[in-house]
Amino acid sequence: MIKIAVLVSGNGSNLQALIDARLSGQIAGVLSNQPGAYALTRARHAGIPTAVIEHRQYPDRESFDDAMHQQLLAWDIDLVILAGFMRILSAKFVRTWQGRMLNIHPSLLPCYKGMHTHQRVLNTGDVLHGCTVHYVTAELDAGPALAQGVLKVSLHDNAESLANRVHALEHMIYPRAVEWVCNGTVQHSADGQVMHKGQPLLQPIQFCKF
Ligand code: GRF
Repeated sequence: MIKIAVLVSGNGSNLQALIDARLSGQIAGVLSNQPGAYALTRARHAGIPTAVIEHRQYPDRESFDDAMHQQLLAWDIDLVILAGFMRILSAKFVRTWQGRMLNIHPSLLPCYKGMHTHQRVLNTGDVLHGCTVHYVTAELDAGPALAQGVLKVSLHDNAESLANRVHALEHMIYPRAVEWVCNGTVQHSADGQVMHKGQPLLQPIQFCKF
């Protein structure tokens, strides 16, 4: 059984969706850089081991990431899931876990990498918006995507309503994408290609909410 670690910094609603999904993999640990993250409470309620590694207690990014890496090894982790983890990871850490680490981003990548995605979508006047599950690579929000949730922006939407709607989509697609990795439907080949049922996945699989 695949052993999963979920890295969090905050509320952990995506962690909750993963817990509730009863994945075929085992969430073997939840790691937070923030001791007060509500995600830790969610993990404890579910009986999942937790660890807090505070980035402020480390002199630099590399030593903080190394401490995280040691914890992941101690839990014997196969797959790392970033779920609202608000630290940029060092190149070494990303390289070490490349092909074994997923993130969810609140936009239809490659559009709107980075922050404030909902407001930027509104400013541009886009009709479609959503979220993307992707493998993590050294370049921010640029790794190969495996799944997207897509919604239609309504005339009545503001940044807050869009954030809420996208969040609900995240809770639907992240557990599905993680399950594909757990059960082998999706694999990451040595040359960085995402394979779906043995074939190269040229486009992320989309779930449309309209
Ligand atoms: C989500 O919006 C996700 O897209 C981003 O961080 C947020 C995490 O929310 N990466 P939560 O902590 O899972 O509720």
